[in-house]
This record gives sequence, structure tokens and C-alpha cells, in this order.
Amino acid sequence: MRVLSGIQPTGRFHWGNYFGAIQQYIDLQTEHEGFYFIANLHALTTIRDARELQQLTWDAALDLLALGLDPGKATLFVQSDVPEVSQLTWILMTCTPMGLLERCHAYKEKKARGITADAGLFTYPVLMSADILAYDANWVPVGQDQVQHIEVCRDLATSFNHHYGEAFVLPEARLLSDAAKVPGTDGEKMSKSYNNTLAVFEDSKPGRKRIMRIQTDSRPMEEPKDPESDHLFQLFRLFGSEQAIQEMADMYRQGGFGYGQVKQALADAAEAYFAPARDRRAGLAQHPDTVRDILRAGAKRARETAAEVLDRVEQACGISAPRNAG
Ligand code: TYM
Repeated sequence: MRVLSGIQPTGRFHWGNYFGAIQQYIDLQTEHEGFYFIANLHALTTIRDARELQQLTWDAALDLLALGLDPGKATLFVQSDVPEVSQLTWILMTCTPMGLLERCHAYKEKKARGITADAGLFTYPVLMSADILAYDANWVPVGQDQVQHIEVCRDLATSFNHHYGEAFVLPEARLLSDAAKVPGTDGEKMSKSYNNTLAVFEDSKPGRKRIMRIQTDSRPMEEPKDPESDHLFQLFRLFGSEQAIQEMADMYRQGGFGYGQVKQALADAAEAYFAPARDRRAGLAQHPDTVRDILRAGAKRARETAAEVLDRVEQACGISAPRNAG
């Protein structure tokens, strides 16, 4: 299978990004061919400061490598280093009904929150479709919030194939059932735009502080509680061993514990879990040339694939250099 996914450099990665998506990249890279990219073109719809975007793109590369993405196994690159994708976006745009984009919840939600939408935000799912289709990807590992966009991608590919013949491979979303929608500190979906995130590479002290501020209900300590309906427990479950999770669930059901205790256990577990990645990241930051070489080699490989697909698509719809026409 060919696996592809992208992640926006709009802020430092949070637990939702890691458990929903990045962990899948790492699990899949050994058995499958993988293309993973930093979606800086998508980030242009939110970050308006050139230096900040450059810094966040760089941080994203270091973070992904530190977390275990292996350039010996998978291809890591920056989205804008493959201009073929932007060209494919236009072609797909001509097959995109407006109504399809109007129904996309990411756009609808932002609009509802009063964020003025530009055409970039509106057509965002078309660029994402081009990202996926440009590499003939079969599987797209993502969190729940991206599923609708992958449906759009399938619709556009089907429509193009219908008009011009089988040019595109239809991709499938790949979700992890336990981590497709990681909750944030307020119990809603963890998201950079909701300011409820817990960062993967946060320093220990502020990181612990944010964990201690996770919102909980005010039921009395002695009351037994259902772990499954508690977002603090759901977060703990991401890190704990089977045994630790079982013990914590039993404690919930018996009652007689404080949420502070659970938060301490969560903070300890998270710190221990990300400690090796933190060390690797510090090491990588000392070797920027190596990281630049990895991204350059990744972009070259990615471009070769995308150019082949674009060529096939241009021929299919009649915009390739004329050969026998006329
Ligand atoms: P982005 O940058 O918002 O998020 C990156 C990945 O993290 C997942 N994710 C979550 N998973 C579980 N629980 C959460 N709370 C949570 N928050 C985020 C996202 O589902 C995503 O998989 N449009 C994409 C980037 C993109 C892309 C692509 C993805 C651009 N082109 C092509 C796949 C294929 C985005 O904004 O993800």
C-alpha cells in the first residue's frame, strides 16, 4: 500500500496530532511505502508572518523526525517543494462543485466563529485532494476531523475519472479507533484553534501546569465514576500500560479518589513517554544540515512521483504539450 499524510505547521504539535496521526505514520512506515509532508501551503491560510511560518515548518520537520519518522523508510518533505501539486489543484478545481465545498465543516465552523474566509480557506479541501491524488496514495492516516476532506477527495477523483477515464487512484482514510478524536483540556476535540491543546514538546513545568488545569466536574470524591465518559481518563489511556489503565479504571469505578491524583499520574506518564523523543530532538537540532538534506532528498523523490501523475492527468484532460493535435 502507498500511504500519505500531511500535517500543518500552524503551531507546535499536540497530543491529538501525535496519537491521531503521527503515531500511525510511524507504525505504517516499516511495512508500507510512505509519503509524509509538512503542509505549509495550507498553513498560509492562517499564518501571515513569513518568519513564523518558516520557523514552524522547521520545527515540524525536527518534531516528526524526533518522534520516529525514519527518512530511511519514508519520504519526508515540505508541501511547497512540489509545485506539481498546485498545478493539479487547479485542474481539480475545475471539477469541484461549489456546494461540495460549502458543506465542508472546517470551513463552516471557522465561518461560524467569525473568521473571515478567503478563497484559500474555502478551497482548502481541493488542495488537500491534490496532495493525496498526486502520489497515487491508497491510505491516508488521519484523525476524525479530516475524514470529510478525504470524502471530498474521493468525490473529485471519481468525477475526474468519470469525465476523462481512470486517471486517479481512490484513497481511503485510516483512523485509529481510540485516538481518532483526542479530547483537549476542556473535553472538546483537542485543536490549535480552540486553545485547549497539550503540546508534545512542552517544557516540563508549563506542561504540568496545563495538565493540572484540565477541566473536570465537581462530583464528590467518594462517588464512583464511569471512566469511559471522562475525558481525563481518555487522555490517561493514551499513555498508560494495559495494567495502569485497568487499575485507573477500577479506581474510577470504586470512587474515593481525586482528579488531582489522576492528573499527576497523567503528567508523569506523558513526561516519561515523550522523554526519548525530546532527547532525539535536542540531538537533531545540533545538525541542521542533516535535516535540510533529508527534506531535499524527500522533495526530490516526491516530485518524481507527482510529476508522473500530473503528466498522466494532463494527458487525460488534454492540456499536455500537443503531440498529434491539429
Ligand atoms: P492538521 O494539521 O490540523 O492535523 C494533523 C493531523 O492531526 C490530526 N488531529 C487529530 N487527531 C485526533 N484527535 C485530535 N484532537 C486531532 N487534531 C488533529 C488530524 O486529523 C490530522 O491527521 N488538512 C490537514 C493537513 C493536510 C493533509 C493533507 C492531511 C493537508 N493535506 C493530505 C492528509 C492528507 C490538517 O489540517 O491537519
